[in-house]
Amino acid sequence: MTKQLTIGEREFSVYDEGSGPTILFVHGFPLSHAMWRGQLETLKTRFRVVAPDLRGFGDSPPPTGADAGAKSTMRQMADDCSAVLDALQIAAPVVLCGLSMGGYVAWQFAKHHSGKLRGLILCDTKAASDTPEAAETRRKMAEHVLKHGTSAVAEAMPAKLFAKVTHKEKPEIVAEIRKTIEATQPQGLAASQRGMAEREDVRTWLPQIAVPTLVIVGREDAISPVDEMRAIADAIPGAKFHVVEQAGHMAPLEQPGEVNSLIADFVDSLA
Ligand code: MLT
Repeated sequence: MTKQLTIGEREFSVYDEGSGPTILFVHGFPLSHAMWRGQLETLKTRFRVVAPDLRGFGDSPPPTGADAGAKSTMRQMADDCSAVLDALQIAAPVVLCGLSMGGYVAWQFAKHHSGKLRGLILCDTKAASDTPEAAETRRKMAEHVLKHGTSAVAEAMPAKLFAKVTHKEKPEIVAEIRKTIEATQPQGLAASQRGMAEREDVRTWLPQIAVPTLVIVGREDAISPVDEMRAIADAIPGAKFHVVEQAGHMAPLEQPGEVNSLIADFVDSLA
């Protein structure tokens, strides 16, 4: 069930189902909680699964002033996730599972809300910050979508997100993601691009992560490649590392069965 929560002056749309240990799913850019549907439908039978639409995505409104340069920082989104848990009266520490931008949010959650964290699952993400060129590309994209809408991003981005076999054998998933990107509010997309452009490099901080951690990457991830994710796992004490075959950047959506088993086994191991 999706709930509308009012937190301070902001509205959030949050999927919340099931009971048991809580897994908080944090989506990637420029998507919504729906990217986790393959996890939510299955794992809700054993766990409480909570999946917010981050500010400016899905049915959660963008920050005010996005047209005039406002940004959604990774820290703000992590604070939003913490506030969502409070609003749902979830007091026990959760396992946070974040993909890509959701992983950038996870780092900030782990840094600033560590008391609420039982474990971390990082899917297809990065610990490094942007190069100046990459940050500039994000700022340009922000200006572009505010002027022209999201169609060009929706056309271009799916090519980079999936494994070859997904494009060939599961074109409906690619089409679904294209639709989600097209429906994303330009203000939300722009604000998060500005936020990601200035996100922190957390590589030297990774050894301080003190909760059990699982790192998952699609073999053909072109955005957060296997070697980069292996380096993240190597830097986090005791982290487990798993490569999902026949998957790209959207491993949980491309290979839900395998990723669900990894998540369930990991959460069970914390009991
Ligand atoms: C994502 O999937 O969330 C994006 O690839 C993150 C990014 O643009 O760095």
